[in-house]
Amino acid sequence: MHSAVAQQALEQGTCTVLGAIPRASNDTRLVVVDHAGTHLKAVYKPASGDRPLADFPLHTLSLREVASYRLSAHLDLNAVPPTVLRSDLGAGPGSLQAYVEDSGDDDAVTLTAVDAIPAAHTPMFALRTEDGTDLVLSHDARDGLRAIAFFDLLANNADRKAGHIITGSYLPGCGPSSIGTFGIDNGLTFHAEEKVRTILWGFSHSSFRVEEVDALDEVARMSADLRSALEDCLEDAEIDSLRQRAERLGEVGTFPEPPVNRTVIPWPPI
Ligand SMILES: Nc1ncnc2c1ncn2[C@@H]1O[C@H](COP(=O)(O)OP(=O)(O)OP(=O)(O)O)[C@@H](O)[C@H]1O
Ligand SMILES: [Mg+2]
Repeated sequence: MHSAVAQQALEQGTCTVLGAIPRASNDTRLVVVDHAGTHLKAVYKPASGDRPLADFPLHTLSLREVASYRLSAHLDLNAVPPTVLRSDLGAGPGSLQAYVEDSGDDDAVTLTAVDAIPAAHTPMFALRTEDGTDLVLSHDARDGLRAIAFFDLLANNADRKAGHIITGSYLPGCGPSSIGTFGIDNGLTFHAEEKVRTILWGFSHSSFRVEEVDALDEVARMSADLRSALEDCLEDAEIDSLRQRAERLGEVGTFPEPPVNRTVIPWPPI
């Protein structure tokens, strides 16, 4: 299992911080990890480097990153790259997430001219650039994207942008089986109030598949295993809201439509 190998390396590996990733909103650093013959790149987000936000408590984003991976891994969604807590790195406790190397040929989410939207895509929204060009953001219905959309509903992701969906591998050189479609930047998740903002609304109305229904049941039951995976990252009230979201989604039975009474697309969306 690629994820087990990467997770162990992230947990136990020797880390060399290469430097800050430019233009990130929070303190985000690129790291090289070495562990027992496994070498991978990773992204370290120290809790001390969170930029204050109005709606999420300060210094909790890296915990939410880790909770995101644990939920995705517990449900076998493979929607989030391996992400662990480290408390021994230079800038203090934070998350360490496997870096997904973009495979370069990704057309899961595209920004195209109106007459060039790929046939299998659902258009999400249109925008006009400063020079007057009309563009449309659209996405396809591949399983990897569906798993991210499903994860985002459960995790209550308030920030699923197009640029934070990467098709590629976090263990380069391990062949095609290591390539997947992953959601990164999962820090704005698990708020107790409903906040889903995503560019993946194209699955609306699609009935949950058997394995998705099973996953919703699993979260609604909130087994001791799942609770203990989440409770060192989230407040009890947030775990409770997660459980209730799973119950509600299970009752509805389909990917919901975007609500009409609030902003449902993240800004910026790309
Ligand atoms: N796991 C990852 N794999 C590949 N690239 C990553 C990963 N995590 C972060 N990055 C890169 O680092 C950038 C900054 O990371 P991220 O978006 O998570 O931080 P942020 O502080 O929330 O910044 P932003 O303002 O972009 O939301 C991303 O836009 C992406 O280019
Ligand atoms: Mg962000």
